Amino acid sequence: MAQFFVTDARREGKPFLFVVALIAALGGFLFGYDTGVISGALLYLKGDLHASTFQQEAIVGALLIGAAVGAIIAGYLADAISRRWTKVLSGSVYTLAALACAFSQSPDQLIGARFVLGLSVGTASFVSPMYLAELSPKRIRGGLVSFNQLMIVSGILAAYIVNFGLKGIGQDNWRWMLGLGAAPGLMLAVGMALMPYSPRWLVECGREDEAKEVLRRTHQEQDVDDEVAAIKKVAAETGSLRDLIGPAVRPMLIVGLGLAMFQQIVGINTIIYYAPTILAFTGSSASSAIGQTVAIGVTNLVFTVVAILLLDRLGRRVFLIVGTAGLTIALVVLGAFFAFGTLQANASALALIALVVYIASFAIGLGPVFWLMISEIFPLEVRGPAMAACTVANWTFNFIISFTFLTLTSTIGKAATFWIYAGIGVIAIVFFVRRVPETMGRSLEEIQRDVTGSSGRGRRGHGELRSA
Ligand code: BGC
Repeated sequence: MAQFFVTDARREGKPFLFVVALIAALGGFLFGYDTGVISGALLYLKGDLHASTFQQEAIVGALLIGAAVGAIIAGYLADAISRRWTKVLSGSVYTLAALACAFSQSPDQLIGARFVLGLSVGTASFVSPMYLAELSPKRIRGGLVSFNQLMIVSGILAAYIVNFGLKGIGQDNWRWMLGLGAAPGLMLAVGMALMPYSPRWLVECGREDEAKEVLRRTHQEQDVDDEVAAIKKVAAETGSLRDLIGPAVRPMLIVGLGLAMFQQIVGINTIIYYAPTILAFTGSSASSAIGQTVAIGVTNLVFTVVAILLLDRLGRRVFLIVGTAGLTIALVVLGAFFAFGTLQANASALALIALVVYIASFAIGLGPVFWLMISEIFPLEVRGPAMAACTVANWTFNFIISFTFLTLTSTIGKAATFWIYAGIGVIAIVFFVRRVPETMGRSLEEIQRDVTGSSGRGRRGHGELRSA
């Protein structure tokens, strides 16, 4: 996959772009590492720190609240101190907070440290794709934005591997699992200090000459003046927050927020955070559950690569709908596994198979498509605040689902919990079929027209909006 991007950057004649993408997407890696690491660490720290079920949920949830707050702060910081320094700050805070997690002496200290870590993760989740999109030439922008999702899943897998490697080193192992996150945090902070400012930010600050210098390193010489002119035009058109809920943008905001919400409420992060716990429910020991979780991380990575390679050829909608159907079926099976004792006794591999099918289906659909679509469906003048609103919504629903998962399984049971997520999957499919436009190969204006329904009604078929 890396080769794929190197080739693209080379074809552009700008291998420097690949270096920038690699460093900038470390923000995605931090997002993923943190998402993945807590699942294994939880199995050990709950005994070591005597954390109750509520405290365990709070340890997971504090990061998510922090991330929602961080995504809001990032919107301000990215303009005030630049995307580049916001990312340096995010890497530095991450490094310190990862160490604070590792040295926590009580559940409350850990909850506090994970909230601060969340501020950094939320900031990175918003600024990384933004910085990447602003630095890359139009022709390879889609690939570079998706590079961030690839780094998210690589971070998740790295965390699973770290958890697997450290499972046998004694009761302090969870401290190493959490503390090792400081390494990529430091790499992001130092790496971004060496990277250029975003040209769009420089133009907005009136530093046009510097913007041109950066663009010469990332774009073809003949495109530099056009790019500066385009940035200036967009900067002049930047809309107000009120435009976000105006009639022109509202339908797209509903699509973006719908995708943000459904990406989380089909239960993806209950699988990511609690995979070892779910597998432990099936009778696996803590250490073999962590090993099986690595298989889930590899599946996530492999199918994300498949999606990235095919999304620009076959379209977004087909992956969104087929992927969500696949994960819904996997949830029904997972529920059945827990509902029927005979399945547990005679088909113990079924839970692992269902988890793998679930994660593969998410990785080809909702995973990459949400982040890709929110960078495509909004008109340029409101893209920043609209993407921020969708990012905050995504973290908020991530919090609601993760925070209620253990309580739900212990009150209504595991089977009912997974069947509720399956029911949500069905609603999500209906929403996608009715509301989500095809964005592949289409200009923003065409997408906007279809979503608002202002023209083009009656045009139906592949590549167009089915029902707006
Ligand atoms: C989601 C995360 C999730 C990850 C799993 C991302 O697109 O936003 O919440 O943990 O995918 O691969």
